[in-house]
Amino acid sequence: MGESRDRLSRVSSAFRDKFGEDPHFVVRAPGRVNLIGEHIDYHGYPVLPMAISQDIVMAVTVPHDAAQGLRLCNVQSDRYRDFTSSLAEFNFNHMSKPQWHHYVLCGLKGVQEQLPVGKQLRGMRIMVDGSVPPNAGLSSSSALVCCAALAAMKANGLDIPADVLATICAKAEHYIGTEGGGMDQAISFLAQAGKAKLIEFDPLRSSDVVLPEDVVFVVANSCVELNKAATNHFNTRVAEGRIAVQILAHIHNLDWRTIKKASQLQKQLHLSLGPLLHLVDKTFKPEPYSRADVCASLGISEEELQTHCLSASTQNLQTFELLKRIRHVFSETDRVKVFKETCEIGKGADGKHECAKRLGVLMQDSHISCRDDYECSHPDLDDLVSVMQRSGAYGARLTGAGWGGCAVAIVPKQTAEAFLKKVEEDYFAKQPQRAAKLPEALFITSPSDGAGLIS
Ligand code: GLA
Repeated sequence: MGESRDRLSRVSSAFRDKFGEDPHFVVRAPGRVNLIGEHIDYHGYPVLPMAISQDIVMAVTVPHDAAQGLRLCNVQSDRYRDFTSSLAEFNFNHMSKPQWHHYVLCGLKGVQEQLPVGKQLRGMRIMVDGSVPPNAGLSSSSALVCCAALAAMKANGLDIPADVLATICAKAEHYIGTEGGGMDQAISFLAQAGKAKLIEFDPLRSSDVVLPEDVVFVVANSCVELNKAATNHFNTRVAEGRIAVQILAHIHNLDWRTIKKASQLQKQLHLSLGPLLHLVDKTFKPEPYSRADVCASLGISEEELQTHCLSASTQNLQTFELLKRIRHVFSETDRVKVFKETCEIGKGADGKHECAKRLGVLMQDSHISCRDDYECSHPDLDDLVSVMQRSGAYGARLTGAGWGGCAVAIVPKQTAEAFLKKVEEDYFAKQPQRAAKLPEALFITSPSDGAGLIS
């Protein structure tokens, strides 16, 4: 509570210093940690994140003069430069490496698209203060998009329900170029303090997941940064999964051109995850597929490969890992299901320790699948996960997109302090640049509230 008051007064006073007036309102949107269910939201499958207390806060005024456009500033002005723009058009097409203000523009554009044709967003002065570490897998970018959308909604007197706004933001973030799913935006809007959520898609909905009382979740940053929008790893995985799904659909005489997500395929095949995993192992060779292999498997030409299977950013891919990627998607989906069921059984049971142990094993298996099948880990992140495991966690895994960033561990509450100390010694103290990132890089987290107006 004290901390959020400090943030509020910090952003408000930075606003006053910059613009010489008080903000009309202040909004916030949190980052998240995903407990389990990695890289399956864009296949339409449920995921299980919780919001963290680290967030993006925006203090805003809406000038009367509509011609004022957008003036965007950040409390950390040395790192995040001021940005000024007209609101008549949003320019995204020059991005080799997206900058911070592009994420704000995504949120604004998402809301702009809800206005009647010809109507334009009102101008805004915005001061931003963020506490979500960037490029750490804790969804700092989506928090920025969601906070900006919320600010634009308030500034324009709109009343968009949280789930609708989350979907708008998920779609709008694609302007950055990364073809993410909707997890980050959904949890940022739908989170509630004290609750982890099962987020389901098509249509978007959320339900509470009661976590065991005698554990805490610890987040640790590997200190390897990866800006997922600056590489093609993410979109490559999306394309590989889509192609695997389309080949399976083709083999089963389904209209494969209309099927883009594993969940759509599963519905049409009427199969549960076990038989699907079996089918995957039977269908795909372990070696990478060439473009010619994919064309032959689908009975299509190169041109059709480009239009039906590949997105703008994956047109030039030459090889595709299909077996490993789609095996991860189905096995991870199964782990989410079992995780949720284990939490439900664990609620009233005496065997709380057993429940936590089972959740730990699922998280550990999830990490192995991300590392070996989805290949979205990093040697330092693997090392961090092993350190967490050895330091007394029931289980640990990478969280978020991966290729660096954070790990999350489930740890007995009673031994949490000893755990933190051991991880500090065995991972952070080993390298001065890691040690310099403490204490922000290692913390116990509990589910925080979703996005909203704070003043
Ligand atoms: C990013 C995306 C999410 C999700 C995760 C991986 O955070 O924005 O939609 O795909 O990666 O689980």
